[in-house]
Formats: sequence, C-alpha cells, structure tokens
Amino acid sequence: MKNIIIAIDGPAGSGKSSSARVVAETLKYIYIDTGAMYRAVTLAWMREGTELTEENVYKVLDKLKVGLKQSSSGQRTFVNEEDVSDDIRLPEVTRLVSPVSAMELVRTKMVEQQREMGANGGIVMDGRDIGTIVFPQAELKVFLIASIEARAERRGLELRNKGFEVDIENLKTEISERDRYDSSREISPLRKAADALEIDTSNLTIQEQTQIIINLAKQIIES
Ligand code: DC
Repeated sequence: MKNIIIAIDGPAGSGKSSSARVVAETLKYIYIDTGAMYRAVTLAWMREGTELTEENVYKVLDKLKVGLKQSSSGQRTFVNEEDVSDDIRLPEVTRLVSPVSAMELVRTKMVEQQREMGANGGIVMDGRDIGTIVFPQAELKVFLIASIEARAERRGLELRNKGFEVDIENLKTEISERDRYDSSREISPLRKAADALEIDTSNLTIQEQTQIIINLAKQIIES
C-alpha cells in the first residue's frame, strides 16, 4: 500500500477541513490543517498587543513554536505548548489572519514545518498552497470551490454553534475580502494547481464530497 500525499486547497468555507478530516480518518492518514498554523501565528502576535507590521510579527515568530497534535476530537493546535485550538477560531483572529499569512518569513517557516510533517506521506493536508507550493508532487490534488452563499451559511452555522451572533451578509463580505486578499497576495496566492481536480461542493453533503476524494485516493493507492 502506498502512503500518498493528498493536498486539499480552496477558499474559506469550501469544505476543506470537514472533508480532509473524514478522508484522513477513513484512510487512517494524518490530517493537517495548515490554516490553524497561520491562525496560531496571528494569535501569538495579537496577544503582544502590537501594531500589525512585519517587524512586530517577525519578533513573535522568532520565539514561536507552533505544534499540532492529533487527538480523538481532531487536530489540536499549540503555541509554545499551550493549547490554543479554540482561541485561533475567534472572529478577531479570522479577521487578521490573511495579512499575517501573506508575510514572507511567516510562510517560509510554516511551509518548512509542513514539508517535514508530510515527508513520509500518509497525510491529508488542507490549505491554500498545498498543491502548488508545499507539495507540488502530491499524488492527489483537490481544489474545492462553493458559492459565496453556501460558504457563508456554513461559516454561520459553525459560529452559531459556538454561541456567536451571525449576520450572513457581513459574513459574505468578510469571506469575499479574505478570498481577495488570499488570492492576490504576492507569495503563494490561493490558486488551483494545473493538475488539481476541482470539485464544486455548493450542493454536496460532506459525505458526498468526501466519498469522491476517497474513491480517487483509493484508485491511486491501490494502483
Ligand atoms: O483555512 P483557514 O480559514 O483556517 O485559513 C486561515 C488563513 O490562513 C487564510 O485566510 C489564509 C491563510 N492560509 C494560507 O495562507 N495558506 C495555507 N496553506 C492555509 C491558510
């Protein structure tokens, strides 16, 4: 059995993490949510209370250790040994993560760590640049897209379940802005790799979208 690399990229709310988690569970692979790593850097900088500048973020980055651990409830994210899995999902972090993740040294450090984690294969990694930059040699690349309405509804549901009040129109604006930022940045912008398979998840259930990916992965693993 081959231990392949499965890269799942796409914009916010396209269903990457939900499907990546299930695909990894089914194949007994390790699931790595790379967005959590950029969120962890953002949170660590926010806690310093300094202005958003490269210099301030790099100061924090220098002494920062981002750790990922697998648990029965999914991936847990650590900043210098502290479990920050809940805090990195706060709306304030979501609002500021795009500019932080666009900084060159932030990307260099995170990408290096991601490559180490995936070196032996047997992983499902989701993000924005996994199929293009982190693992251009990945055996399976999937690019998920969905309508802005479907994506805002999904994010809204997630936030409501955590007790936040939600305005769907605001969410649509926030998501579109983040897409624009992530797609237009200079370094490793969000884009579909030429050899990635695009799946529109707007009208698919998690089960349907994961089944498509699992079938594709099995064909490659068993070939
Ligand atoms: O997937 P997410 O919403 O948790 O990602 C948060 C941000 O991190 C996203 O707006 C862009 C950035 N990101 C990135 O630049 N590269 C990745 N591989 C993953 C996320």
